[in-house]
Amino acid sequence: MSRRTAIFRLTHRRGAARASRLLAVLPVLICTVGLLAMIANTATGAGSRADLVLSGIVTAVWGLFVAVYVLRIWSAPEAPNQHAVSATATGARLDYMLSASGWIDLMAVLALPAGWLTGLPHRDAQLFAIVWALKYIRQSSGLAVLLRVLRRALPALVSVVTVFFVVLLIAATLSYLFERAAQPETFRSIPHALWWAIVTLSTTGYGDVVPVTIWGRVLAAWVMVSGIVIFALWAGIIANAFAEELQRRHFLRTWDLVAEVPFFQTLGAAAIADIVRLLHVRHVSAGTVVIRKGQAGDSMYFIVSGEATAMLVPEPVKLSPGAFFGEMALLFGTPRSTTVVITKPSVLLVLDVADFRILAGRRPELINVIEAEGRRRREENAALHDA
Ligand code: CMP
Repeated sequence: MSRRTAIFRLTHRRGAARASRLLAVLPVLICTVGLLAMIANTATGAGSRADLVLSGIVTAVWGLFVAVYVLRIWSAPEAPNQHAVSATATGARLDYMLSASGWIDLMAVLALPAGWLTGLPHRDAQLFAIVWALKYIRQSSGLAVLLRVLRRALPALVSVVTVFFVVLLIAATLSYLFERAAQPETFRSIPHALWWAIVTLSTTGYGDVVPVTIWGRVLAAWVMVSGIVIFALWAGIIANAFAEELQRRHFLRTWDLVAEVPFFQTLGAAAIADIVRLLHVRHVSAGTVVIRKGQAGDSMYFIVSGEATAMLVPEPVKLSPGAFFGEMALLFGTPRSTTVVITKPSVLLVLDVADFRILAGRRPELINVIEAEGRRRREENAALHDA
């Protein structure tokens, strides 16, 4: 491995995550240390020993960010899957610098110098380090999902925000109309009434401004209930979009795995799409007992990668990628015939008993293959038992 490849793996998230978990969380840790030092320094006396130490930490973290940024630019040509535009080293470097991650890294590098250039006292200049918080976005794949979810749900969210503003304007106008005589100071204009409207509509209710007229109170009740409905709608839309996104990701990931299993390879895309919805992915470490002899069976398994062993007596049977197990209990309604242990870290596709029945209805040809193998195994075991 060249030195540049090693640096790429160390500094770019994809490589680091593979190298080790510590390397994957290190940038977050460093960023957190820098931010905590900056925050803590606002509580120390200027020029004190603590101020010196904390300022030193902030500057050291900034130095690390500069070094990592330079190394990232230098090692960018090592990124896999370089497409034609970025086939040259300069192209690859520009690709990184112009990517969202590249911009965030650049802003993190420029934050402190920007603060120093303002001529503010050094502790105030350090406040610019708050830009480093953007690094959390860079590191978090969860936030990337959230952004995608928000983008998908945008039209529905915009409609809810529109309703929010319509209700807000109506509430402010009506409260101005109902309350201005009784409270001429607080409700002297619609902009003034807007404060009450937003505090009430958001169901915050500070209580600093309250309607005193009967119609003002009726209006307040309507605004409060509308607020609850609007936020419930808002939360529902986001939760629904989240569920859809997770389902989509699950579908794509499972699709790739299903396509790897020879058992399913004869099927067309439509049939695979049908089956993908029924299967669940399970990553299992070596030594895990997936099936225990004598227990009731509620699912069967397809091995995508790794290895499982059916602990048959006298000779255990190794099951390799492409094989399946756990079908006998589902087919024949019997307890588990033997214990099955995972002997190499494995990826399994799990088919629950209910989904097994659905599959039997939709794809009888698949179940026939499973059944034939189940019968063969049962006879083999009976023959061994009799011997
Ligand atoms: P089940 O009986 O549900 O649970 C144990 C599983 O071990 C069984 O289904 C089969 O999938 C598998 N198994 C049992 N006997 C054999 C065999 N002779 N060869 C391969 N696999 C077997």
